[in-house]
Amino acid sequence: MSTPLPPALPPPDPALGRPVLALDRVDSTNRIGRQLARAWLDAGGLGPLPVVVADHQTAGRGRQGRSWQAEPGQNLLFTVLLAPDLPLARAPRAVLEWAAAMAEALDLGLKWPNDLVDDHDRKVAGVLAEHEPGARGDRVGVIVLGVGLNVRQRDFPGLPGATSLALLGRPELDRDALLHALVRAVDGVAVGTDGALDRWRTRSRTLGRRVRVAGREGLATGLRDDGALLVDGAPVLAGDVELVAGPDATG
Ligand code: BTN
Repeated sequence: MSTPLPPALPPPDPALGRPVLALDRVDSTNRIGRQLARAWLDAGGLGPLPVVVADHQTAGRGRQGRSWQAEPGQNLLFTVLLAPDLPLARAPRAVLEWAAAMAEALDLGLKWPNDLVDDHDRKVAGVLAEHEPGARGDRVGVIVLGVGLNVRQRDFPGLPGATSLALLGRPELDRDALLHALVRAVDGVAVGTDGALDRWRTRSRTLGRRVRVAGREGLATGLRDDGALLVDGAPVLAGDVELVAGPDATG
C-alpha cells in the first residue's frame, strides 16, 4: 500500500513565519502533523515547520492512549511541529518548557506533566507530544506538539475536572488570536536553559502537594532537570497525577 501524500501547505503566515494549515474537519491534527513531520524530515529538514489547526476532530488523541473530545467549532485544537537540536532524552523536559510558556501566555497553572489548569486545578488545556524520528536515533527528529485548549465549550459531560476560558469568564475567546499567542509563546522558548524549566516550577500547581501517580502516593517534592516529578524524592517519569489534597494540605 502506498503512503498517503501529506496535505499541501499554504505559504508561511507572516506573523508566525510558519505555514498554518487550517482544516474544517480532520481525524486528528497530530496525525496530520506527523505526516508533515515525516515529509519535512525526508526532504532534508528544510524550510519552516507548519502548524495544523482544525475546527473539528473526529478522532482527537489524548495522553496515555485516551481520546480527546471537543465540541466542533468551540475550542482551539492545533498541532505545532518543533525540531530542537537536542538529545532525545531531553525531549520530555522540552515539552514541559513549552507547556510552561503556554501557561504563562494564558496566565494558567500547570499540573504535571503538562496540563494547563485554573486556580481550582480544573483542566483548561491538554498537551500531547509525539515524536517523529530523524536520521539519528539518539537525537530529536520532529516533536509533534498537539494542544487542545477549551475556549468556548461550556458543557463537559462526564468530565467534572474540565473547564474552559469562557466558563472562567475570560475575555480571550478569539481562537485565531489564541493560536497566534500560543505558537509565539512556544517559539519563544530557549529550550534547555535553566530559566525555561523554572518557568514550569513557578506556575506549578503540583509541587508541594500530596499526589497519587504511577501507583504511588506521596508529596510532590520537586521537578528533576530531566522533567521527572519527584514524589517523596523518587523520580516518576510518566503518568497522570491525581492531586489528593488542596494546596495547603501537605502532610
Ligand atoms: C491530554 O490528554 O491531555 C492531551 C490532549 C491533546 C489534545 C490535542 S487536540 C489537538 C491535537 N490533536 C490531537 O489529536 N490531540 C491534540
